[in-house]
Amino acid sequence: MSNAIDEETMECLILSAREASESAYCPYSKYPVGAALMGVDGEVYIGCNVENASYGLSMCAERTAIFNAVGNGCRNFVAMALVGGKKEAATPCGACRQVLAEFCSPDMPVLYADLTDGDITETTAGTLLPLAFKKQ
Ligand code: THU
Repeated sequence: MSNAIDEETMECLILSAREASESAYCPYSKYPVGAALMGVDGEVYIGCNVENASYGLSMCAERTAIFNAVGNGCRNFVAMALVGGKKEAATPCGACRQVLAEFCSPDMPVLYADLTDGDITETTAGTLLPLAFKKQ
């Protein structure tokens, strides 16, 4: 993988995502998720899921992290980590995959782990959403 990241960065991003999951506002699903996105500026931008009594207004952790980064002036990223799920690690939903495709190269690493054990799986933004829709 051309954009491979080192072990230390992986652990740091997963730890940040795990910490972010502790801020999740998920009284309806009771399914906390945390995301951490490393910008080319070296900053780590975090996000958690934020739900609403009007369920459809809920926002996923990944999009919260991406919008947090963009709102802080960073649009180029090195890697993203996601932590969620107890029995099985959460992977990004379809909407988040499309938003990732807007800002991240197809070979950008995406790491994911569940809330309990330390196992990290690595994939890429392009594997998550091949043939993503792109602006012309
Ligand atoms: N969720 C995320 O934040 N990210 C994912 O990758 C999957 C789902 C959130 C949305 C909702 O608040 C809760 O998890 C259950 O679907």
